[in-house]
Amino acid sequence: MRLLVLGGTQFLSRAVAADAVARGHDVTCAARGYSGEVPDGARHVHLDREAPDWSALDGEWDAAVDVARTPSWVAGALDALAARVPHWTFVSTISVYADHSVPGGSPDTLELLPAITEDVEQDSPEKYGGNKVACEQLVQARAKDALVIRPGLIIGPGDPSGRFSYWPERLAEGGDVLAPESPDRGTQAIDVRDLAAWIVSCAEQRRTGVYDASGPVVRIGDLVAAVMAAVGGEATVTWATADFLLERDVNYWSGPRSLPLWLPEDSRGMTSHDVSAAVAAGLTTRPIGETAIDTLEWLHSLRNPPTTGLSRAEEQDLLDDWHTIRA
Ligand SMILES: NC(=O)c1ccc[n+]([C@@H]2O[C@H](COP(=O)([O-])OP(=O)(O)OC[C@H]3O[C@@H](n4cnc5c(N)ncnc54)[C@H](OP(=O)(O)O)[C@@H]3O)[C@@H](O)[C@H]2O)c1
Repeated sequence: MRLLVLGGTQFLSRAVAADAVARGHDVTCAARGYSGEVPDGARHVHLDREAPDWSALDGEWDAAVDVARTPSWVAGALDALAARVPHWTFVSTISVYADHSVPGGSPDTLELLPAITEDVEQDSPEKYGGNKVACEQLVQARAKDALVIRPGLIIGPGDPSGRFSYWPERLAEGGDVLAPESPDRGTQAIDVRDLAAWIVSCAEQRRTGVYDASGPVVRIGDLVAAVMAAVGGEATVTWATADFLLERDVNYWSGPRSLPLWLPEDSRGMTSHDVSAAVAAGLTTRPIGETAIDTLEWLHSLRNPPTTGLSRAEEQDLLDDWHTIRA
């Protein structure tokens, strides 16, 4: 298969290119090359989608994979290439859904945000999601065979966000580890390599349609235990209540002073999607411990690893406070 990856220099789009190369496909990656290098064995074509010179892509491909977030970028790619690329995968997101409170949702049951067709500053989840809805609609209207994949949280080696990597890193250190709310809360994520492999398989099969894609829903306590067992940490986990954390300005999900993967009550649908359609279509996922080990190894290979979550000093202050109150 001749595969064109619009991207290919970091995380998911790079993993797609790497997986396709490993299967013996002929892979072209079109990107600026600012985010990193394309995988060995793939051809890099310089393309800046802010001011694209599409003449650099003058061949024909069996399939394309695009990870863009900007409607004019997607429209430009379709104008230039749709006639020469019969199968088109657009990597969207579960952020396209209007309501994240409903557990067990799927493309068949969830409403979409209104499409935002003009390019906007994506400074809120609604603007990011609304632009992605518009991108999906462009691909569905104009590609010959269109596949839309809406991933949940993507984790694993190469993740620039640091959201999941907080946990293997912190649990490997051991000691008293602060965790959010309750081990019984559900969570859901997919290893970037599993998602990439499935995207390549779908392109090989010329699969069409719309799928949510993530791993199984697991108790966050089980995820923490599996990560701890895999990375070999000797940790005691202290689960602090939401009220305690919020009163002390601990943030949800990611970023400074956050407990990564923690979500507010009204967003818990985000980590409980029904992905049975994707599984029936061949999506397979590896154990979380394997992702944890490989993520930690990747983090240790970096000079400036991504950081998110509580600093150790912030965590220690919170733990001291929690244990004092509970004494
Ligand atoms: N991370 C998550 O948990 C998550 C969850 C749900 C969905 N998603 C979706 O998954 C996808 C992730 O894709 P990704 O990992 O490849 O990261 P990304 O940040 O979405 O895309 C990065 C790619 O886009 C290229 N790019 C950026 N600016 C460009 C420009 N001006 N011209 C040409 N290329 C440009 C980059 O190459 P250069 O910088 O080298 O040009 C890089 O190869 C996205 O579609 C995202 O919306 C992510």
